[in-house]
Amino acid sequence: DWKMDSFVDNTIKSLRTKIGSGKVLCALSGGVDSSVAAVLLAKAVGKQLTCVFVDHGLLRKDEGDEVEAVFGPDGPYDLNFIRVNAQERFYEKLKGVEEPERKRKIIGEEFIRVFEEEAKKIGAVDYLVQGTIYPDVIESGLGKSATIKSHHNVGGLPDYVDFKEIVEPLRDLFKDEVRRAGLELGIPEYLVYRQPFPGPGLGIRIIGEVTAEKVRIVQEADFIYRDEIAKAGIASNLGQYFAALTNMRSVGVMGDERTYDYAIALRAVNTVDFMTAEAAQIPWEVLNKVANRIVNEVKGVNRVLYDCTGKPPATIEFE
Ligand code: XMP
Repeated sequence: DWKMDSFVDNTIKSLRTKIGSGKVLCALSGGVDSSVAAVLLAKAVGKQLTCVFVDHGLLRKDEGDEVEAVFGPDGPYDLNFIRVNAQERFYEKLKGVEEPERKRKIIGEEFIRVFEEEAKKIGAVDYLVQGTIYPDVIESGLGKSATIKSHHNVGGLPDYVDFKEIVEPLRDLFKDEVRRAGLELGIPEYLVYRQPFPGPGLGIRIIGEVTAEKVRIVQEADFIYRDEIAKAGIASNLGQYFAALTNMRSVGVMGDERTYDYAIALRAVNTVDFMTAEAAQIPWEVLNKVANRIVNEVKGVNRVLYDCTGKPPATIEFE
């Protein structure tokens, strides 16, 4: 891919010239945009770059470790990596909170607070990295339905950190170009092809109050769902798919015992721009397998439902 080849080379060179001996800070979310931006900067200025990765305890199963494997000290890149394990802080703030918009606000504000604390420790930085891509610039695509749900993106940090200038190395790229650049840079495919994941994370895939126990349930169910979708080889036909935890418990039976446990909802959609979407048709055998595995393997779940609703009237996420 000579075009991406030269984009990568040219960008690294011009970043190096621009930044000189400056100090660079990046909020790493583990998403493809911030990952590719971070690696470009790492290749350009090495240890002058510090990436801060906030684990808010609302990530998918193993996701924090996957990010650390790539960007941490055992990974292939030369940079400073700080992982903040802030799950307890977030769970504490979310205790007793049921209203979706309040949950989003709390998660967004706490995220900024954690990031701000880390930035203070690092001291004055010259450049702040943002993974802005072209569709963000022209204000369309993902994360722009702000009137319906307040969207927390790792992007909106500039007010809270002391810095001189923003660097946005992906400003001219479309998503597929960002992915190609990512592959060119040696970022593993599981990061490059990661599906969209909302800033508030599993916090908005757990209806009602968030607890550590509910996070565990939704993480395990979602992991099984993704595993079976991958095994069935149908991931590339789907726009987005995930498990959510309904706040509903219902009666079931296990052996001779009556159970009263949670229902997991499975969602899969196809979409062009995420503004509208239709429910995807997952083969019945796959759904059946997933449902069986979830009720057998995930403690606290005795029922699995499939969401057949399009957007509108439903949204893709549950909150
Ligand atoms: P909804 O639920 O509004 O989601 O139909 C549309 C797309 O946006 C993603 N989404 C978010 N992305 N921060 C994000 O970065 C957010 O707060 C957020 N909320 C929803 C969602 O996953 C879907 O791809």
